[in-house]
Amino acid sequence: MKHFVSTKNLTAEEMITIVELAERFRNNHPTFDHQLFVANLFFEPSTRTKVSFLVAEKKLGMETLDLQMEASSVTKGESLYDTAKTCESIGANLLVIRHQDDNWYEGLIDKFPIPIINAGAGKGEHPTQCMLDLQTIYQEYGCFQGLNVVISGDIKHSRVARSNAHALQTLGANVYLTAAPGFEDASLGFSYISIDDAVEMCDVLMLLRIQHERHGKEQYDTSSYHDKYGLTIEREKKMRDRAIIMHPAPVNRGVEIASELVECRRSRIFKQMNNGTYIRMAIITLLAKEWGMHDGDLTEEFG
Ligand code: CP
Repeated sequence: MKHFVSTKNLTAEEMITIVELAERFRNNHPTFDHQLFVANLFFEPSTRTKVSFLVAEKKLGMETLDLQMEASSVTKGESLYDTAKTCESIGANLLVIRHQDDNWYEGLIDKFPIPIINAGAGKGEHPTQCMLDLQTIYQEYGCFQGLNVVISGDIKHSRVARSNAHALQTLGANVYLTAAPGFEDASLGFSYISIDDAVEMCDVLMLLRIQHERHGKEQYDTSSYHDKYGLTIEREKKMRDRAIIMHPAPVNRGVEIASELVECRRSRIFKQMNNGTYIRMAIITLLAKEWGMHDGDLTEEFG
């Protein structure tokens, strides 16, 4: 694993390694034995991903270069490649990038002699979100084989759906999708079911936000969405006793989920955010090991 940009080529074993390392780092984690700089290049807005990367990097003892895009030379037209190359030339040892293009990393990562992490690619992939989602499910069930996982919402515009569906399938979960008309994505190749069937049979209900910012001129009217397709208080009551609710957030309260359910006993939404720090520490550490950025074996000595 030279870079971490997609879940498509990850094996089940690699994913479990990341999840278990993140869990170990919760109690005891390493710090790098010499100065390492990480540049965080967020071309799209972020709260959770950016903050948890910053916390993860600081816990590992890294120096963080936190570029503010609106105050950078990106405003003068500098490209992603030139911005990333500039940071690497000046001394960054690792790049964390979020960018609006679905496949920004293709053709780019091979040009860099340092590791690159995808912190979100348009509506393409969000692999670190996927890993923290897997950690959350693993904490709950201790396995993935045979679990019914339903991903519900704006599938068509969701990078979280794309990263999670394939990873969960690789791990042996039964993956189903539910979406309002127009939000389906047939290219994913999973079965669609109704939200009413979903709540009764799922072990994990993974809700997604309507991605208004990716809809262009045809803005979606959400007025009847909650009753027709959302997790209402009535639907939550039909869920299996052990079933959990997840959401990558930010949450549109009262749209895909009733506001009262955001912190209900089934909800793992804030647990997911908490896991984000440790999963990102694990990913950075594994890449550092791969690239020989630390003298000892950071993954064996700690946890
Ligand atoms: N889940 C997620 O990626 O949130 P942010 O956009 O706030 O980083």
